[in-house]
Amino acid sequence: MDHKQEWTRPEPMWREDTDLPTFDSLEENTSADVAIVGGGITGITTAYLLAKAGKQVILLEADRILNGTTGHTTAKVTAQHGLIYHELIKHFGVETASLYYQAQMNAFGFMEETVNKYNIQCDWTKEDACIFSTTEKGAQKVTNEYEAYQKLEIPGDLTDSLPFDMETTSSLVMKDQARFHPLKYLSALVDRFTELGGQIFEETKATDLKEGDQLEIETGNGSKVTCQYAISCSHFPFYDGKGFYFSRMYAERSYLMAIEPEREIPQGMYVSIDEPKRTIRTAEYNGKPILLVGGENHKTGDGIDTSFHYRAIEEFAAQTFGIKEKLFQWSAQDLTTLDKVPYIGPITRKNDRVLIATGFRKWGMTNGTLAAQLLSDYVLKEESLFHELFKPSRFKADPSMKQFLSQNFDVAVHLVEGKLELVADRPERLKKGEGKVVQWRGERAGAFKDDHGELHLLDTTCTHMGCEVDWNSAERTWDCPCHGSRFSYDGKVVEGPADQPLMRISLDEPTPRSYLDIKKSNEEQQDQP
Ligand code: FES
Repeated sequence: MDHKQEWTRPEPMWREDTDLPTFDSLEENTSADVAIVGGGITGITTAYLLAKAGKQVILLEADRILNGTTGHTTAKVTAQHGLIYHELIKHFGVETASLYYQAQMNAFGFMEETVNKYNIQCDWTKEDACIFSTTEKGAQKVTNEYEAYQKLEIPGDLTDSLPFDMETTSSLVMKDQARFHPLKYLSALVDRFTELGGQIFEETKATDLKEGDQLEIETGNGSKVTCQYAISCSHFPFYDGKGFYFSRMYAERSYLMAIEPEREIPQGMYVSIDEPKRTIRTAEYNGKPILLVGGENHKTGDGIDTSFHYRAIEEFAAQTFGIKEKLFQWSAQDLTTLDKVPYIGPITRKNDRVLIATGFRKWGMTNGTLAAQLLSDYVLKEESLFHELFKPSRFKADPSMKQFLSQNFDVAVHLVEGKLELVADRPERLKKGEGKVVQWRGERAGAFKDDHGELHLLDTTCTHMGCEVDWNSAERTWDCPCHGSRFSYDGKVVEGPADQPLMRISLDEPTPRSYLDIKKSNEEQQDQP
């Protein structure tokens, strides 16, 4: 069959077959012991744990719960986080690397126990996880990782084959990991949380935090939450608190497709370590076994036509498994820290009432659950073996310093390059559904012509720190290469750290051009009743 399609709205599969409760937005000032911002796996699990411990907890979500990174995951529950243990041993030693593994397996154990305890029907299935290489250089890396497993006593098998039609030079299996349906699992935790008296407010965007005797979270619609502890579980922290998180993480996008394959479905979960990256796992949809195939990881806003990535995955899936039916396709954004270990704990060394969890790379299921365990330990003042390792205020000279310099050098390059870029395209040449960086009155601008033919023109200066955003054709968003902010085609913030929309350009009037002008103009627009 011809499985190729024109632009398809990216929709993750997980929401399609899950009935999630909905919640009102917060319309008046309120208070709680703990306020949590972000309704993904970390926020919901933390909320559940703290409510179970007797705390009064409020959870705020800017959109709908489970619609962010958690809703777009591959949902592999594993301590096999690509290549990591060899690197951790090299940089931090065997003891720290072992702690990382133990922390992941603790989170795994908690999830399995919770599934059994509440009999959650979330397709929890034990399967092996496997990393594989396709080059000789990659095979050496897999061997190094295997040696790290042996030092850390991680059960693993080294082989040189895969149970599907793909050439490999080496593969490393971690036994008895799991896959599941993340939304079915988390909707059960949402039910437990609300039964325990916890409150959830959706479409309530936390915009700022004021620190005093009590903490005060401000929201976009004017209401406030007063609390003793504020916890940011919002992917990119909604409040930076001088932690400079935007300079200590980088954002990557990746793509996923759900297919019914023509060939036999292999059991297990697979990730390639060579380029182009590929990820494969089985799942169920409407009672049928299907495959999730993905990869094509790249830094956010790298300027490549993003539809290309979906096409590449589709071609790979067709070649390797055959495609009987293409069911869904979607993409995700993940944040990676300087040393690849998530930031979980007090936002700065001196502030232990504002806690954050972020930078899970692509491994949000165990990292998110682990974060919830550590965050609730902080609030309940319980000691943990793992606090030190994940503390956001850690800063090791190597590899953090190298990564810090390289990340911030990249930002500086984008800042300059974006401004100098010569643009020839004109907005009037756009077809319906097309977006592009164009020239408008001699300046760089972002143009998108919607399906009704209406032209949306924006200043492409990112409102976070002034880099130039690029068009993402697959998602119809404007993405910033510097720190991963994303904006809808008409300029609204989809993903931070930016918290101001892109400046719209009126087709009839001259527009303010400088970054400061844009900030000022946005502030004026916000101040208007
Ligand atoms: Fe920082 Fe755009 S996200 S400049």
